[in-house]
Amino acid sequence: MKSNISSYLNKFFIDNYILTSPFYNNKSLKLLNLTDFHFHKNVPREIYQILIQKIFELKPDFILMPGDIIENSNFLYDSSSMNYLISLFKELSFSSKIIIVLGNHELKYQKSLLDMLVWFKGLSNIPNVYFLENETLTIDNISFHGFSPSYDTYIKPKNLKIRDKYIKQFITSNFKIIDDSYNILLTHSPILLFDSYVKKELTSLQKMDLIVSGHLHDGYLPKCLDKYFSDKQIGIYCTPYMSPFKNIYSRGIHEYGRGYILVGQGFRKYTHDNFFFNFLERYTANDIETITLEHQKTLSYKKQV
Ligand SMILES: [Fe+2]
Repeated sequence: MKSNISSYLNKFFIDNYILTSPFYNNKSLKLLNLTDFHFHKNVPREIYQILIQKIFELKPDFILMPGDIIENSNFLYDSSSMNYLISLFKELSFSSKIIIVLGNHELKYQKSLLDMLVWFKGLSNIPNVYFLENETLTIDNISFHGFSPSYDTYIKPKNLKIRDKYIKQFITSNFKIIDDSYNILLTHSPILLFDSYVKKELTSLQKMDLIVSGHLHDGYLPKCLDKYFSDKQIGIYCTPYMSPFKNIYSRGIHEYGRGYILVGQGFRKYTHDNFFFNFLERYTANDIETITLEHQKTLSYKKQV
């Protein structure tokens, strides 16, 4: 698809938050949430050039990618797509450390699941790139916990057995949650994190200072309506397992545990690789968020305008 770079310039939106916490004891640090990347070979490459430029301007210390990095497993059979993605990660890793966890789109394809895991594990060979598979990475007294629950937990999140499975997967993960460390959880979907049963059973969630997620694609709300529904749960997210107006936030920062949860709006929204979705996506926002962490005796957050 031939496209003019200027037609993509106005599609980029960056929400900037400042977050203070008594549990954060380092110097000021900037995180960038790049969720729902949904790479496929027909995404116009110009948007990645603009993204790299924006990230080089923003200079985040960490780029957090909490899942759905790729759209489907086709890229595993397309060396040019794989090489392009690797070169993109290499370029971004000159600016920032990158932490990656898997989402439902990586876990969806049973036949290629093993190849998928091997490919993502291979990304950790790039300096400054870290792939977390249900484990903890501690850098500068910040503990990053990467949680990728199995694909079925995305399909029927309200089923009691599935909720128990999700809880078990979290408990048996290799997390090292330290009380006096600043704990950041990266996980793709916020849906089960808002479930009262899961919250009651998974007491360690209360020790999280920041949870970074995505998955809800801004409730598929057109950008022009965002300002009316900012930080609300409202959205038009209709799937077999989730109807609109459920008590799940579709965007923004909300109090959670001893800190906050960020529901990222998503870099891409209409992600399927077909003519109709590719057309819609041309007119849909590319959203990213930054969070600047600062030490203060009180917990607070504000959105910079
Ligand atoms: Fe997604």
